[in-house]
Amino acid sequence: MTLLSPNYIYIDGTFKENLAVAFEKKIHAIEPLSKLKQQYPHAKVLEAKKNSVLYPGFINTHVHLEFSANSTTLQYGEFMPWLNSVIKNREDLVAKCDNAVMQKACQTMMNSGITTFGTISSFGTELEVCTQTPQKVIFFNELIGSNASTADMLYQDFLERLDVSKKCGEGIIPAIAIHAPYSVHPIVLKRAINVAITEQLPLSAHFLESQSEREWLENNSGAFLEFFQKFFSTSKSVTNISEFIESFDSIPTHFTHAVQATTKELEYLAKKGHSIAHCPRSNRFLGCGRLPIEKLHELNIPFSVATDGLSSNNSLNIFDELRSALMLHHEEALDKLSALLIKGVTSVPAEIFNLNSGKIELNRDADFALVSLPDEPNSLEDIALQTILHVNRVDDVYIGGEKIKM
Ligand code: BEZ
Ligand code: FE2
Repeated sequence: MTLLSPNYIYIDGTFKENLAVAFEKKIHAIEPLSKLKQQYPHAKVLEAKKNSVLYPGFINTHVHLEFSANSTTLQYGEFMPWLNSVIKNREDLVAKCDNAVMQKACQTMMNSGITTFGTISSFGTELEVCTQTPQKVIFFNELIGSNASTADMLYQDFLERLDVSKKCGEGIIPAIAIHAPYSVHPIVLKRAINVAITEQLPLSAHFLESQSEREWLENNSGAFLEFFQKFFSTSKSVTNISEFIESFDSIPTHFTHAVQATTKELEYLAKKGHSIAHCPRSNRFLGCGRLPIEKLHELNIPFSVATDGLSSNNSLNIFDELRSALMLHHEEALDKLSALLIKGVTSVPAEIFNLNSGKIELNRDADFALVSLPDEPNSLEDIALQTILHVNRVDDVYIGGEKIKM
């Protein structure tokens, strides 16, 4: 048994003083340290440094590890030029992305306290690294292919990758990702959703990321028209927005971005119990706009805060992401926004994916991110904001009760 005693513990959305945590693989007790010492006289006692805050390990629901070799190659600014640059450089970037590059990406996430991440896997090349990292991984095998003549073959390839990820054991949670409404044929889309339903696998899909995607799905026009004519010799989208959303009616899905969704569409997502992955920097860097998180709050749509991959970001540090979110949503009250953002990387994603982490609570997994503030916070209510502003790197990370060497 280990007793960990920080200055503050993040419990149920608030910060508590004068408490310590007793844990092995799971959390056994949360009480004042003196009481825990009596209860567990042989336990190892760790007193954290001054102004320390213990958070549950952070959860990053959306990253593309396979694109971790990108730094300056891809074109940022607007969605379509970016997508074209992905198509042009994909092979080189994936070839350059060896295990060492992906391990470094996992390490950056770990240094910022991410103990669980969801990676969108296009090819399965990051699976080995994911089995080796101490972090827990939701391994989203991605289905892509709008062209009817190749969709079957791509679907078989997807099933094979999914099968391999099912055999990895405890640290890997097999899951399914749908690339996007414009890039997946409705027939294979339905098949993949049925697999997710019958096998109860987590499901995610990029959705209404850009204005161009909306124009294409609604009117077969805009920047995607030229793209589809050039690469797929077609001028017609395989689906429309309502057909796509309705395909997910019987399985709560984590939709990534949804920046261009209308209020009506958001209401529909709310009604069907879906959730959203919010990637503020990715949206900014690809010129996609701002997700109106105030509307999500109003409609009770749970949202996680995620980094997306290095293909559309400049770091996988979750504190960088949270700081950017503070700036992007500039009309929100800082204290409320900070609280919401911390929830978006802890309890909310845990609930969405039914993970036994994301909260410091009895019987939860002992996954922690221990941070320290540079000075004493002015009030308990300030700690979420001050953490976001001042922390770049955690002091320690625990996963399943084990302190991770960093
Ligand atoms: C498709 O298969 O339709 C597709 C693939 C990549 C990007 C866009 C579309
Ligand atoms: Fe993504």
